[in-house]
Amino acid sequence: MFPSSSSPIVYGLTLFLPLFLLFIFAPQILPLRYNRQPSLISPQDELDDLRLFNEAVSKATATSRGGSPKTSHLGTINPKPKIAFLFLTNSDLVFAPLWQRFFESPSNDDLFNVYIHVDPSTKISTPEWFIKANFIPAKTTARASPTLISAARRLLANAIIDDPFNLYFALVSQHCIPLHSFKFIYTSLLGNPSSASKAFLTQRSHTSYIEILSEARYLYKRYVARGYGVMLPEVPFEKFRVGSQFFVLAKRHALLVLKDNRLWRKFKLPCLYSDSCFPEEHYFPTLLSMVDPKGSSHYTLMRVNWTDSVNGHPHTYHSPEISPELIHTLRKSSTSSYSYFFARKFSPDCLKPLMEMTKDVVFRD
Ligand SMILES: *[C@@H]1O[C@H](CO)[C@@H](O)[C@H](O)[C@H]1NC(C)=O
Repeated sequence: MFPSSSSPIVYGLTLFLPLFLLFIFAPQILPLRYNRQPSLISPQDELDDLRLFNEAVSKATATSRGGSPKTSHLGTINPKPKIAFLFLTNSDLVFAPLWQRFFESPSNDDLFNVYIHVDPSTKISTPEWFIKANFIPAKTTARASPTLISAARRLLANAIIDDPFNLYFALVSQHCIPLHSFKFIYTSLLGNPSSASKAFLTQRSHTSYIEILSEARYLYKRYVARGYGVMLPEVPFEKFRVGSQFFVLAKRHALLVLKDNRLWRKFKLPCLYSDSCFPEEHYFPTLLSMVDPKGSSHYTLMRVNWTDSVNGHPHTYHSPEISPELIHTLRKSSTSSYSYFFARKFSPDCLKPLMEMTKDVVFRD
């Protein structure tokens, strides 16, 4: 029992004093992660993007209403469906020579386009020769922020505006490599180019290849990364999804992403907890699973090795690990019969060994 002589006030003070001191000094002594990031997206950026996305949507709508796109920018008279390769990078495209070889083949020429979003705050020396590279107007990007979503949407919009025959959109980074030949990837997505017809343009049934998972470690922590309750009512936790940042979207889904403002308003909020803030891994899977759950594969075509991941980064391959066996292993899905098309992450020293086995391994299907 408490000694009756001591006054309750003194007792109360003794109890609360440590708490009070902690409250005063905690910010100095505890490395609190609770500090809201400044927003990296200015109102002007937001307006620029909105204008761009609207332009893409109205252009696509005009095209699908039978307004015939005259010619693609290559001047092809009878164009075939294309894949738009979207490179999202903040450093040199060290694998450009490998991608160049991937694209290089005369008959591929009218079957793809390349668009590149380079963080303007970094100076990169991307080779001038990099095939058909369209450098799109870019803005600053940063890890653990919604700027990566904006950059991906900018790539989609520019590709849609540039060429109405872009029907698939493959988002990759500077650390990604192809695991198959261009022909293999093209045929898997769009069928044999020689049998392609105008019907492709109004094709409504293309599947998107994007990972959509409803269960993952720290999912709730990531859900509340912008604060408790802020995602409501648009995104209840049961609808919140996670998936690979990199995807292959069909045009109808690319348009859906560009039309969205409802979910973007929530996902663009800066995070309170930067260690669980990866908006780009949530925005696209959540949006697509809410609007068109049956339209996506729910798996990704991008192989990533999360074993021993550090700080949210997957395993990065180095040149001693590169071998024909590795390429064959990376292609195979452990859970399904499909083959991966791309893989990440690779360090620059992998370029040489990869280039030495393009013909016999990487681009042999
Ligand atoms: C994945 O990475 C781990 C190291 O983090 C490595 O031991 C393993 O071989 C890798 N798996 C594949 C399939 O490359």
